[in-house]
Amino acid sequence: MFSATVSAPTNIACVKYWGKKSVALNTPINSSVSVTLDQNDLKAVTTVCVSKSFKKDRLWLNGTEEDVTKSKRFMACISGVKRLATTKVSTEGEVLVDKSEWKHFGVHVSSMNTFPTAAGLASSAAGYAALVAGLAEVFGAKETYPGELSTIARQGSGSACRSLYGGFVAWRMGKDHDTGEDSLAQQVCDENHWPELRALILVVSDEKKDTSSTEGMSTSVNTSKLLGYRASTVVDERMRSIEKAYTERDFETFGKITMQDSNQFHATCLDTYPPIFYMNDVSKSVIKIVHAYNRWKGKVAAAYTFDAGPNAVIYHLEDVADELLALMLQYFPDDKFLGSLFGSSFVNNPQAWDRA
Ligand code: DP6
Repeated sequence: MFSATVSAPTNIACVKYWGKKSVALNTPINSSVSVTLDQNDLKAVTTVCVSKSFKKDRLWLNGTEEDVTKSKRFMACISGVKRLATTKVSTEGEVLVDKSEWKHFGVHVSSMNTFPTAAGLASSAAGYAALVAGLAEVFGAKETYPGELSTIARQGSGSACRSLYGGFVAWRMGKDHDTGEDSLAQQVCDENHWPELRALILVVSDEKKDTSSTEGMSTSVNTSKLLGYRASTVVDERMRSIEKAYTERDFETFGKITMQDSNQFHATCLDTYPPIFYMNDVSKSVIKIVHAYNRWKGKVAAAYTFDAGPNAVIYHLEDVADELLALMLQYFPDDKFLGSLFGSSFVNNPQAWDRA
């Protein structure tokens, strides 16, 4: 038996992925870009064990076994990484497993999330990224081109491809619609590029969302004209501008595009028929407070974004972190909100933060 334990952080998109070009390949209708959060905070910790004596592939998620026998996504990750497996050799040079033998090995996976599963905090992103990273470790997988492992993670969950890299990471939608080989993640800036950047995460609700991303996207693609317009006309220009802004550490532009794109994503959800509501009234008050705060500061000092759920992620720079946290605590002082305040996740900063 061989095993490996890895962890992968979640990522929060600034230009959102919403809509599939190919459901089978899990390729998107538009490119997207996200910030990978710090390993100390929101992450999946995954142990992968492989053995010839394992008769079938199995998964335990937060301690409970899930039936994965029919999960195309899970199986695509296992077979994808097995294809890149190499011969395992001991430190003394003895062949332990020839690469042709790996296909006879069963895979057991145990994964834990350090944050609410399926509540719009990209749990599948961290989960599938950790799965692919763990499999790659155990099978000694070698990419035949840069980003190949991210094409496998993408088949688990689209946003997972971006969690394989730290820093600011783009998912290029790709042009090869037959294979999806070029629909992959690419690091735009590494994790040391902007150490002052922070993400404050407000867990408005830790309940499982009622419309999954996959299901919501499919209805949006079929019914929302705004989504088609967004993919054909808006996203490419936003990608160029936000990548430049991040590279130049221009928070105002980065923040403005992040908020505009979150708003447009939720507008496409409203334009979907029947409409999908991911944000709730607390989410909307967070938006109002952030705009009031920015007006008071006379600049974009904080930028909210919401994925497929009501929880807010507020990007900001280190110098306003205390002020912003104090402001949020003043508006949401009740126990429920306080108790679910996740804390300030230090983007790319190894230092832990003491919770309030
Ligand atoms: C709103 O990656 O969860 O968070 O590919 O169907 O698994 P699947 O979808 P998923 O969708 C994430 C959507 C989003 C935006 C984003 O992360 O870019």
